[in-house]
Amino acid sequence: MTDVFLNGTFVSAAQASISPMDRGFLFADGVYEVIPAFNGVLFRLNEHLLRLQRSLSALQIQNPHSAQVWQALCKELLVRNGRGNSSVYLQITRGAPEKRDHGFPVPPAQPTVFMATSPIPASSISDSAAAPGAAAIVADDIRWGRCDIKAIALLPNIMLRQQAIAAGAAEAILVRDGLVTEGSSTNVFVVKDGEIATPPCSRMILAGVTRELVVELCRQHELPLAEQEIPRERLYDADEIWVTSSSKDALPIVSLDGHPVGSGRPGPRWRALAQHFLNYKQTVCRLA
Ligand code: PDD
Repeated sequence: MTDVFLNGTFVSAAQASISPMDRGFLFADGVYEVIPAFNGVLFRLNEHLLRLQRSLSALQIQNPHSAQVWQALCKELLVRNGRGNSSVYLQITRGAPEKRDHGFPVPPAQPTVFMATSPIPASSISDSAAAPGAAAIVADDIRWGRCDIKAIALLPNIMLRQQAIAAGAAEAILVRDGLVTEGSSTNVFVVKDGEIATPPCSRMILAGVTRELVVELCRQHELPLAEQEIPRERLYDADEIWVTSSSKDALPIVSLDGHPVGSGRPGPRWRALAQHFLNYKQTVCRLA
């Protein structure tokens, strides 16, 4: 049984309990982060904590911990649960006031803080020569107008992912008003004639920490990249599509709605990016 962190204490997962009055349970009134750790080293921790602060500020929830304390809590949880490649899931809700009321509780309730770890499966970038790539579908983006907040309210994302699974695919690539936004739990990159494009940050997408790193790596290594709007049709004549997230790194999509993307295999731009990504990860996380 693994340990979790709940409201100031580390306990075994079976012993952790939360009030049914918790606003996370009643209203999905909370935010979360998923922070990967490789070889026990937290990856892009500062960027995750900055985004956490932005999500909390948008919902007017007080950040219960300083960056130093978050770092110490993440490290302690990783040590307790085994240091390999795991992600730290961290959730903060507006707490458990006595009565259910849509308005924020006055005075504010103590936020509920929950943290757990789970193992990260091997990434396609670790062996880019052998990476098979994954399938995706295209679906209408049925989410709300503040997708920049990493809110725990994920019902549309869950439904969209399930739609992908039912079609035998790994991810749903979302389109709103004819433009690609992101995946159900990933950001999207599209390559055409060597040019890499990804939708710009706005309230319609989550500013992915992995997206930001991929943009940085492309700029640093002179892979041509533009943050620009991507019309739905571009998906169907793309040479390459990648989806990025903290648990998938950069995953090549080789089949879309049952049709091959480009050659139907991970493409040359992805292989170049994957190598830079892996080098960066190996350096930062002191991997062998
Ligand atoms: N999801 N877009 C959405 C809607 C997401 O849920 C995520 C992450 C991303 C990628 O963000 P990042 O690179 O910072 O992980 C983009 C996490 C992993 C999840 O919900 O489990």
